[in-house]
Formats: sequence, structure tokens, C-alpha cells
Amino acid sequence: MVSNDAVPDLRFIHLAVHASFIDIVRRGALATNGMPCFNKVMDVQNAEAVHDYILDEANKEMERRQNPDSDWWKDIKVKVYSGIGKLLHKVM
Ligand code: HEM
Repeated sequence: MVSNDAVPDLRFIHLAVHASFIDIVRRGALATNGMPCFNKVMDVQNAEAVHDYILDEANKEMERRQNPDSDWWKDIKVKVYSGIGKLLHKVM
């Protein structure tokens, strides 16, 4: 689902890929490129459930990007992280 690009990050797949999801996952449409065919371990219902989950995570990620941390939360994070930094500096 979340990838460093060794395989595609499924939160960012193209609309056309969503449309071909079942072909890719259950019919091996990209098997020659290294994407395994999961027809023996996933029926259509399972594959659709996985697809729904991917759509959910894609939407959550889009929302996260559209609503980044508010300023007060960023301030708190900066204070906490720099506090931890100072503490580590003293200990080490
Ligand atoms: C339930 C698990 C998985 C799902 C739902 C899934 C789904 C997908 C989808 C939808 C694509 C097309 C992405 C695109 O073209 O933008 C893709 C591509 C790919 N997947 Fe998976 N995948 C799964 C597991 C795996 C695993 C286990 C491997 C490796 C062993 C793998 C390897 C790849 C590779 C190499 C591609 C790129 C194929 C290409 O460039 O044409 N995937 N996968």
C-alpha cells in the first residue's frame, strides 16, 4: 500500500489503474512486469474489499495533504522535538 517506489504506492495509482484493478490483481494483467496474479488466494469479493481499503487510504492521504498540521500543533511539535534534542545532547 505505502511504498518507497520499489513497487507502486497504491495510494497514488491512476484512475485508469483503478478501473483495471481486478484485471491486475486477479487476472495477472501486469504479471510480466512483476505484479503477481492473486486469483488463487483472493476471490473477486476479497479483491474488491482490498480495493475499497486502498481508495479509503488514498482519500485519507489526500485529506492529510490538503489539511497539514495547524500552526499551534506545529509549535508544540517543534518545542517537544527540540526539548528531546537538548535532553539527548546532555545525556550523550
Ligand atoms: C494485495 C496486494 C497487492 C495489490 C492489491 C497490488 C496491486 C497493484 C496494482 C493496482 C498495481 C498497478 C499500479 C500502477 O500501475 O500504477 C500494481 C503494480 C505492481 N505490483 Fe502489486 N499489488 C499487490 C502486491 C504486490 C506484491 C506482493 C508484489 C511483489 C511481489 C507486487 C509487485 C508489483 C509490481 C512490480 C508492480 C508494477 C508493475 C508495472 O510496473 O507494470 N505487488 N500492484
